[in-house]
Amino acid sequence: MTSPSKVMTTRMNIAIDGPAGAGKSTVARHVARELGYVYIDTGAMYRAVSLHMIRTGIQPDQVEEAVAEMQRLHLELLPGSERQTVLLNKEDVTETIRTPEISQFASLFAQLEPIRIKLVHMQRQMAEQKGIVMDGRDIGTHVLPDAEFKWFLTASVEERARRRYVEYMDKENVTLEQLMHDIEQRDRQDETREISPLRLADDAILLDTSSMSIDEVVNVIVQRAILRKDGEQ
Ligand code: DC
Repeated sequence: MTSPSKVMTTRMNIAIDGPAGAGKSTVARHVARELGYVYIDTGAMYRAVSLHMIRTGIQPDQVEEAVAEMQRLHLELLPGSERQTVLLNKEDVTETIRTPEISQFASLFAQLEPIRIKLVHMQRQMAEQKGIVMDGRDIGTHVLPDAEFKWFLTASVEERARRRYVEYMDKENVTLEQLMHDIEQRDRQDETREISPLRLADDAILLDTSSMSIDEVVNVIVQRAILRKDGEQ
């Protein structure tokens, strides 16, 4: 492959949105590495907040308590070439937040406006320097509406559940049917919430990854990024 960081002189921000299991995180991480950019997984931020709320016994319908608890919570993302480390009050929770339970709670706590305002503020600060690949649900539509390059990755519910099944197989006692049900429920919650719902930005490129490998998706995005910066499209 061409050496993209040599080709691309002007740094840009790349937004990658889409539903659960569409491959966003893996793709975004690889794209960032290829381009010499920093990868930011915003879903991990909602997950870490949810872990904190669960630990403190706060439910998603306890809005006042959740907002108060947000003041006590210290969240840090440490970008790395292999993965992003998530620190919650100085504790490394990078792996702890990857469970089906946290996935569901994250989708519910993500409906609360004060939580979103705080996390979006952090996300915009991290993107100020440019050279960011950020994945989430509202990056192209709300967090970084001026991102130079926007992608919306999707895949069939069956394929997305299968991918999650492979991811969880070794550590969680969960069935494919259960994961399909969870994903459909999360799609509904993320797409129908009042604040910054998951939707395709007008200027985003839609890519169905159902029958594509991670490498194929990464290649498409990296090559298009290089072309765009070279002014060839
Ligand atoms: O990408 P993920 O599955 O780790 O995200 C977990 C949940 O967090 C997702 O169901 C919705 C929420 N989320 C969000 O509302 N906005 C984002 N930018 C990222 C995630």
